[in-house]
Amino acid sequence: MALVEIQLPEVTKPLPADVEAFLAEVDERIDRFMRNHPTWGSGFVPSDFVTVYHALRAIWESNLTTGRHLCEWGSGFGVVAMLAEMVGFQACGIEIDRDLVDEAHVLADEFELDAEFIHGSFIPRGSESCAEEAYADNDAGVVWLVTETDDAYDELGLDPDDFDIIFAYPWPGEENVIDRLFDRCAADGALLLTYGQCNAVRLQRKRSGRQRGV
Ligand SMILES: C[S@@+](CC[C@H](N)C(=O)[O-])C[C@H]1O[C@@H](n2cnc3c(N)ncnc32)[C@H](O)[C@@H]1O
Repeated sequence: MALVEIQLPEVTKPLPADVEAFLAEVDERIDRFMRNHPTWGSGFVPSDFVTVYHALRAIWESNLTTGRHLCEWGSGFGVVAMLAEMVGFQACGIEIDRDLVDEAHVLADEFELDAEFIHGSFIPRGSESCAEEAYADNDAGVVWLVTETDDAYDELGLDPDDFDIIFAYPWPGEENVIDRLFDRCAADGALLLTYGQCNAVRLQRKRSGRQRGV
């Protein structure tokens, strides 16, 4: 298998009013959460939601996915999964921190969004060595990724290869862990959208050696 880079179509449309209102509320809640959870050390670092929203919308409008299922790996407040729902995807998130999962549930309820959130690890059982080997190679100064595995997918009733698109925000130096896990677990043809350095998103598709193109 290999991951093939895909050029994201440019989106210049303004944010819809409901998305703008949602993100204004999100900003306030994340600020409040950080004030109330000083133990988060270097802080909970969310992606740039406007950038990710435009990417999701471009992917949706260009029909780049094989289907509607999206999973946010390490979903934090669950904002990307909720934006994906607003765009048209059927979205869920898996998050290791229970307080963040609780925040995501409250936010989704209040905005009447169907995104589902599970407390647990997005690294499926059987992928321990993949995560640890990839991790040994990385040069991250700050570490957010928890390499433990569990049965979060059982609770969702879906396997990692049931998703048409995965979103993740790896810390700089941890991108290879996400790429390798995705290459190992995702379905052939699935997309990996990552947010990273310089406020940029990256889109890749998993392709078997026999297939060509994107
Ligand atoms: C950089 S934050 C990104 C949050 C969110 N996806 C966003 O874009 O704003 C990474 C999140 O992944 C979570 N995390 C780390 N390892 C995890 C694991 N193995 N399974 C599930 N969540 C994990 C962290 O608790 C944190 O909330």
